[in-house]
Amino acid sequence: MSTTAVSGTATAGGPVVAEARRRRSFAVISHPDAGKSTVTEALALHARAIAEAGTVTGKTGRRHTVSDWMSMEQDRGISITSAALQFTYRDAVINLLDTPGHADFSEDTYRVLSAVDAAVMLLDAAKGLEPQTMKLFAVCKHRGIPLITFVNKWDRPGKDALELMDEITEQTGLIAAPLTWPVGIGGDFRGVLDRASGQYVRYTRTAGGATAAPEEVLTPEQAEAAEGDAWTTAVEEGELLSATGADFDLESFLDGTATPVLFGSAVQNFGVHALLDVLVDIAPAPDARPDVSGRPRELSEPFSAFVFKVQAGMDAAHRDRLAFLRVCSGVFERGMVVTSAATGRPFTTKYAQQVFGRDRSSVDTAFPGDVVGLVNASALQVGDTLYSEKLVAFPPLPTFAPEHFAVVRAEDAGKYKQFRRGIEQLDSEGVVQVLRSDIRGAQAPVLAAVGPMQFEVAEHRMRTEFNSPVRLERLSYTFARRTTAEWVATLNSQSGVEVLQRENGELLAVFADKFRLQWIQKQLPDIVLEPLVAA
Ligand code: G4P
Repeated sequence: MSTTAVSGTATAGGPVVAEARRRRSFAVISHPDAGKSTVTEALALHARAIAEAGTVTGKTGRRHTVSDWMSMEQDRGISITSAALQFTYRDAVINLLDTPGHADFSEDTYRVLSAVDAAVMLLDAAKGLEPQTMKLFAVCKHRGIPLITFVNKWDRPGKDALELMDEITEQTGLIAAPLTWPVGIGGDFRGVLDRASGQYVRYTRTAGGATAAPEEVLTPEQAEAAEGDAWTTAVEEGELLSATGADFDLESFLDGTATPVLFGSAVQNFGVHALLDVLVDIAPAPDARPDVSGRPRELSEPFSAFVFKVQAGMDAAHRDRLAFLRVCSGVFERGMVVTSAATGRPFTTKYAQQVFGRDRSSVDTAFPGDVVGLVNASALQVGDTLYSEKLVAFPPLPTFAPEHFAVVRAEDAGKYKQFRRGIEQLDSEGVVQVLRSDIRGAQAPVLAAVGPMQFEVAEHRMRTEFNSPVRLERLSYTFARRTTAEWVATLNSQSGVEVLQRENGELLAVFADKFRLQWIQKQLPDIVLEPLVAA
């Protein structure tokens, strides 16, 4: 891993903009098991950030992924926590933001997506577009994030490549514009046709993909001699794609109407090199970010950033709490005093880190697009803006409609203080949403989650980190609507309905089922019951 060596206080527009232009900040979105951890590992390998593949993967039998650190994650082989990997490639500085793979943590993933400028949509060649991919795709589309598609696992039998292109276009509405085209069908992957140059990039298998795959560039004539029919078929299919308008066009990619497609096998390190090149060549660099009023904060303006992730307990020995910032403008310099837009209070940034799993290094300087982890940032919450000199507040990050609810109680009533501290902490990190009501009392708040596995994380952390084991009692509510104070009494008088309050004062009416909601709306046409953002 390398950090950018830039000295001096670059407050003038020039150097900041130049540094920002070098940045590529992106995340990989995929359905679990499509190969996200493997791709992350392979990308890092190609950038020589990690000497040997296998150091970043956390599945059983493999070495632990650098982006996984909670023991629960290791047991389960899932990645709950997010980290950011920074490395240089060619002249670019790549920030790869990790997203949790499991659907239950999609809220976390959505927050990470607020901090990237592009995303890689990773597909399993045999499965195509899966439900979680589609959900995440919808978020990218909503946010206007340009997408690069990587069809993974081509070393295994899978769908027909042309059919996959149709599937992408039909399901996402994006024009699938392959940059490379596979030579050899799924399971007999020999290399790819580089559609821009017409050349053949031949791959040589390596044992378990342990080192970067040697790639050999051959002329079309050499390719034909070497691969025969497999090459001719690839060329013909490439012509067919051109005839149907599936050629790459930068503008359509940037405006979100087309997705360039690459083929590869992450486990064999095939095609990952090309993915990095494409990211550097076409993925957008950070740009001015609009504030709450819609006014763009120019890259060259004084420092500003927002918190997209708060994570505690990453290091059991230190019990610390990190707030991850995405820098939006200006230069971040460790030690600088910034202001929190939420409280107006000053905030010292003495301990700023770059975090990639267990690896941490101090960050001295960061530019727009970079991610900085601020240690012991207990005053910071997800969505908060930090700025220097010139006030700015970025729009809040959306919270999602919870679908699972449970009352939480301390197992040991004598440990109420630890219990309260832990619950507050989990709430501010966004691990779960914490809802309260006078009726239930402070000892028995309600936890609300998008996916039930969030409860497991909460339980685990209350026990191991806050030394306050808890009991959870699931409630039968399945969805929530926003309401206002004048309707609380009316709603609470209905069966299967209850009004609870978020930390920020927002009132949520929770319902056991849709029929109750519909019935109430029919009886009381004026009632305020606003839908929340669906996950
Ligand atoms: P995820 O983070 O998206 O959940 O997926 P992950 O990288 O963990 O990969 C899921 C499985 O798919 C792993 O197998 C991994 O080795 C395999 N895989 C990833 N990329 C490729 C590829 O390009 N080709 C093939 N054939 N397989 C690939 P596993 O059986 O779960 O783990 P392991 O036994 O391989 O360690």
